[in-house]
Amino acid sequence: MDVQEQFADYESAALDAVRNAESAEALEQVRIEFLGKKKGRLKDLQSLLGKASPEERPELGKRFNEVKQRVEQAWGERKDGLERPPESVEGIDITLPGNPLVIGTRHPLTQTMDEFRLIMGRLGFAVADGPEIEDEFHNFEALNIPHDHPARDPLDNFYLETAQRFSGKPLLLRSQTSTVQIRVMEQTRPPVRIVSLGRVYRPDAVDATHSCMFHQMEGLMVDDSVTMADLKTVLRLFATAYLGDDVHVRFRPSFFPFTEPSVEVDMRWKDDWLEIGGAGMVDPNVLSAVGYDPEQYTGFAFGLGIERFCMRRHGIDDIRRLFDNDVRFLRQF
Ligand code: DAH
Repeated sequence: MDVQEQFADYESAALDAVRNAESAEALEQVRIEFLGKKKGRLKDLQSLLGKASPEERPELGKRFNEVKQRVEQAWGERKDGLERPPESVEGIDITLPGNPLVIGTRHPLTQTMDEFRLIMGRLGFAVADGPEIEDEFHNFEALNIPHDHPARDPLDNFYLETAQRFSGKPLLLRSQTSTVQIRVMEQTRPPVRIVSLGRVYRPDAVDATHSCMFHQMEGLMVDDSVTMADLKTVLRLFATAYLGDDVHVRFRPSFFPFTEPSVEVDMRWKDDWLEIGGAGMVDPNVLSAVGYDPEQYTGFAFGLGIERFCMRRHGIDDIRRLFDNDVRFLRQF
């Protein structure tokens, strides 16, 4: 083997050894064997230079330095690679698929409300909104709830003292979405066909079926000749669309100050009657309060509890689950 061949032999053996060193210790052994200053294979090559003729020597010396440099460089890079923590960018195969992103889900109540809006939209109802902080006119008076009515008891409502000091009139967190009926009728003339979905507040003791904050869907339809049959039809179509079966609707006589007659509404679903809210024909006093002529117009209104539907649909046994915001629960929807 001539000197050139021995150089090439050394280089390929050294590069192989570097590449195959799997640990810092193994790499150190490679250094001692191939790059050792005192003895080792580099030393042997160097001694070949001494034996070369003076004409050959410059060329071989250059070659020797090149080979040495390449092996040293490969050794240094391998050392860096072994020392770097595995999660470093160069340790990652960017062609592999990444971990799937954990994407959040909409809250089950949000999903329920979105679906309600869609269903009612298909039935021709627009969506209206109203404030959660209300005055007594919209929460009570215009809804025909007189001053001495028990529903106005401060102990049954969240009155806001500080807000009241600034506004100069009593303000409270709305106790029902019926407030939006008034706000809509104040702004528009019949025909009216709206739903309004949102939060209401009552200082109820919290348990599996009660929360001091919950959601309602209010519905209102006012026109020349709206009847109770329209009310029942709309509620039945709505329930059938949401629950997916042919749902039957039952009215039980009841009383609400803002409707006459008034009914409690039940739905027959999975061999059970589910109480879902109140409804009735808009009281003439309410129509008058917003400047509608009760001789010309009639209307129906309803207010449904949204949590109830959501809980029934998903088999949720405790309303508090909806507000604990435990992601282990929420992720299931
Ligand atoms: N606002 C009533 C409540 O919160 C529910 C209700 C009953 C709404 C009858 C209506 C209605 O629009 O007509 O208990």
